Amino acid sequence: MVNLDYLTGNKWGIVETSFDSKWLRKFETIMAQGNGYMGVRASLEEAYTNEKRGHFVAGVFNQFGNNEVTELTNVADLVHMEIKINGELLNLSIGKVTNYQRTLNIKTGELHRVFNWELNNIKLAFSFKRIVSLKRLHILAQEVNITNLGDDCTIEIVSGIDGQITNSGSQHFSEGEKHLYDGKYLQMSPVTTNSKVKLVHSTVHQFKLNEKCFSPSSRIEMERRKIHNRYFLKLKNQDFLNIEKISSVHSSRDKNQDDLDIETRSINDLKAAHELGYNQLLEESISEWKEKVWDIAPIKIYSTDPLDQLGIYFAKYHLHIMTPGHDNRMNIGAKGLSGEGYKGHTFWDTEIFMLPYFIFTHPTIAKSLVEYRYFGLEGAHRKAQENGFLGAQYPWESAWIDDGETTPIWGAADIITGKATKIWSGFIEQHITGDVAYGIKQYFDVTHDEEFMDTYGYEVILDTAKFWASRLEYNENLDRFEINNVIGPDEYKEHINNNAYTNYIAYWNMDLAIKIMDLLYSKQDEVFSRLNNKFNFEKLTIELEKRNKLYLPKPNGELLIPQDDTYLSKKVIDLSSYKDGDQVGSLFHDYNLTQVNDMQITKQADVMLLVYLFENLFNKEIKIANWNYYEPKTTHDSSLSLSTHAALAADLNELELSYDLFKKARDIDMGKKMKSSDEGVHAASLGGIWQIIVFGYGGVRVLDGKLRIEPHLPNNWSKLEFGFFWHGQLISVVVSKENFEVILEDGSEAISIVNKGTNYIVEKNIKIKL
Ligand code: BGC
Repeated sequence: MVNLDYLTGNKWGIVETSFDSKWLRKFETIMAQGNGYMGVRASLEEAYTNEKRGHFVAGVFNQFGNNEVTELTNVADLVHMEIKINGELLNLSIGKVTNYQRTLNIKTGELHRVFNWELNNIKLAFSFKRIVSLKRLHILAQEVNITNLGDDCTIEIVSGIDGQITNSGSQHFSEGEKHLYDGKYLQMSPVTTNSKVKLVHSTVHQFKLNEKCFSPSSRIEMERRKIHNRYFLKLKNQDFLNIEKISSVHSSRDKNQDDLDIETRSINDLKAAHELGYNQLLEESISEWKEKVWDIAPIKIYSTDPLDQLGIYFAKYHLHIMTPGHDNRMNIGAKGLSGEGYKGHTFWDTEIFMLPYFIFTHPTIAKSLVEYRYFGLEGAHRKAQENGFLGAQYPWESAWIDDGETTPIWGAADIITGKATKIWSGFIEQHITGDVAYGIKQYFDVTHDEEFMDTYGYEVILDTAKFWASRLEYNENLDRFEINNVIGPDEYKEHINNNAYTNYIAYWNMDLAIKIMDLLYSKQDEVFSRLNNKFNFEKLTIELEKRNKLYLPKPNGELLIPQDDTYLSKKVIDLSSYKDGDQVGSLFHDYNLTQVNDMQITKQADVMLLVYLFENLFNKEIKIANWNYYEPKTTHDSSLSLSTHAALAADLNELELSYDLFKKARDIDMGKKMKSSDEGVHAASLGGIWQIIVFGYGGVRVLDGKLRIEPHLPNNWSKLEFGFFWHGQLISVVVSKENFEVILEDGSEAISIVNKGTNYIVEKNIKIKL
């Protein structure tokens, strides 16, 4: 039985309706909490064998050994508590559990679990609450309430800081220093073995019995990588015990705002939070959620299915807890801060899937994310050089800013040979370099942040264009440039030539660089001289001339854009059983990658993504022809895929199909597939949910720097309201079945929008018939 349910309407919640140790990992992921500084999986206080505990601090990477890549470390566990009643360990797999419910309140960020537990003559009611403060980035707060409904009993609680935690076996920390301050503040400061990042964890407990503060008898204990208190208490029938545990996490990677050492800062922050107590910490965190997230450009969906609204709340909640907007040396991992999956690494997922949400609704956070790529230039230069190219070649997977390429080399077992499969993406999945430039251009188009472009943006676009120019290969026979031996977005095709998506984005990147140099020439300002000194515009312009002979696969006689040189001549097989299967990647139970390479099977949007991102290059007939051809051949085995197809289907007015894909995307993590989120949330898909709503159904697109709005609602939505910032102004859009209205919320300056080829000037608001 699946024990997952939802609260809709005014209560936004994900609910675990009963305890089932089988599905612990699913709930740990989807109920994870965080604030962009840190992310904490929703592991229960008491430990279970099937769990995967996890607490991650953005930017704290370490390489465990030479044959492993650097990864986001799983830091000490602060939520764990061992609770013994009359000598029996609290364990919900034994005894009788009644009234169990655990809810993540998405609106407040609070996780709350209640249940009654009976064993022998023990009968207790428990309530566990937890938040990661959105207001105080370093603070995690817990409240535990225990009511004795049975006979008098003894309680023993072990709680503190547990560093006996690994990333699936890799222990990233040396034994840390341990301290007890003022008789109550526990502290442990381990250091990562290789990157030498120091973590400082501090924690404090406070007890109340029947509303009165008291200090239970206790002793401090230290073990290897552990420091905790062991508390001894007695509860009479109807006694009510309340425990608050407040913890803080700091690291030597934090951008320091003062001269204090980390240990002192940690204790100071802890004391301040402790003084406020759980309820006030919760209140201020709720206000922060409201002010910083929920009140900004809210989305309201009037659908026959209330899960559609919950879906966007869920997506936004996770997008915010995973994104380290406080520090531009950090970026978003493919699983956010919610699990060990993909090692905390950043992929093109950021630029193409999550970044648009931030660009349009939280431009300051978006800025931090694009700045990260500027700071990554050093690693990108190194990668280009190592591969014999010039300029900046971005790593397929990135971690700390100067790490360069961090993609692992070996992956899952090959079912035919039994050997580990080589992961080629780090070597030849090169479109990421164009994607990075694309993200920067979109950031600029929407924000008009010229200062960013002058300081960082132009340089990244020129440097990436320089890479592409050096990467092109001349084909003498055909007198054209090509890009051979790559992997495109469809990772089921390796070592292919002229992947359409890659070639187009490379061309676009180079062309944009030319336009930028022209612009800077005309300005002749300080930015021009700095960048001209760096790149030698004359020389770079000549290099970029090559783009005019770059082969861009054009639609053929049947209007199909070939995904690569050989795709269209490969074998076609019936994919229906794999497409609708319960498990992603089930294809690999029957075939290995070499075999799949020789079939017309696409893992994720590839040509369709090209059509989506560069939509004004292709007319409607071409879009339809390619949709009809590629959609049946796409397994959507990557969660990145559904949003692109859903938004495109909306463009093509295939609204039922689009809505079907939307629901699949909505349910990737939030839905009832109980195993697929074990390793963490699917960050790109969460960004994709916002894109389906705003770009797909809202019909918002930026084409040649212009704002286009062309809404189309799915059949069971009667209305959609959403908002975004355009050149710094807040715009609201209300879409009904008959028309749509664009309102400039605080607009001082008129804006222009395009709808179905017509330009409209909006001064305050405008209503356009659909
Ligand atoms: C997808 C990539 C994606 C990565 C991380 C892979 O399965 O094919 O496109 O970047 O996951 O999300």
